[in-house]
Amino acid sequence: MSTFRLDKYLADAGIGTRSEIKNYIKKGYVTVNGEPTKKPDIKISPDDDEIVFQNQPISLSEFEYYLLNKPAGYVSATKDNTAPTVLTLIDSKRKDLFPVGRLDKDTEGLLIITNDGALSHRLLSPKRHVDKTYFAIVDGIVTKADVTLFEKGLEIGDDDLDIAMPAQLIIEKIDPEQNISHVTITIQEGKFHQVKRMFQAVEKKVLYLKRIAFGPIALPHDLPLGDSRILSKEEISMLQKF
Ligand code: URA
Repeated sequence: MSTFRLDKYLADAGIGTRSEIKNYIKKGYVTVNGEPTKKPDIKISPDDDEIVFQNQPISLSEFEYYLLNKPAGYVSATKDNTAPTVLTLIDSKRKDLFPVGRLDKDTEGLLIITNDGALSHRLLSPKRHVDKTYFAIVDGIVTKADVTLFEKGLEIGDDDLDIAMPAQLIIEKIDPEQNISHVTITIQEGKFHQVKRMFQAVEKKVLYLKRIAFGPIALPHDLPLGDSRILSKEEISMLQKF
């Protein structure tokens, strides 16, 4: 188990800002193993030390993992000046959570939120080829020829070097009257606007996009939009083994 500076640990637990916490510590509001301490920079180990703030034990696990069903209108970032972030949907006092990768503001679906930087780094590494599956409603009729083009790898940028890796495109439903198609698509990269740009490359427009799986984790059918739940131990270990 890692050690942390006492003031950072209390800030991550949502007790206050770093300067408020320094003040609380100076006033003797915080005890470590029963002894008041006046040092905000002492190192504590959450597993071995008992930290109490104003008679309230503070217990904070080192890592937290959430699965969010992201609604449209929320930004996948820790801060934004124009719209609410996905973190506002997570019921946690932790201050060090972040989303694992990004979904566009208008994209819905599965987003993992954690403070485990090493796991996030591994899952997002281009070398790992983690599958991400999306359901999309596309303007236009998606054809078998499109499926073949997606399978081969499409040019999706202004220069020849921007090539998307082969992706699996499955046509779920075609509605010729409304001129729309329902598809699922599995990609292994996370290039900016990747799915939208892949459809653009075959002259079609994504009207609606929802992520339904990330690696071994699927979006639960019973998790309403905007709700989140804690990942189970099994799910965390599946992600760690990935
Ligand atoms: N591809 C996109 O175009 N947008 C997303 O949000 C995710 C993948």
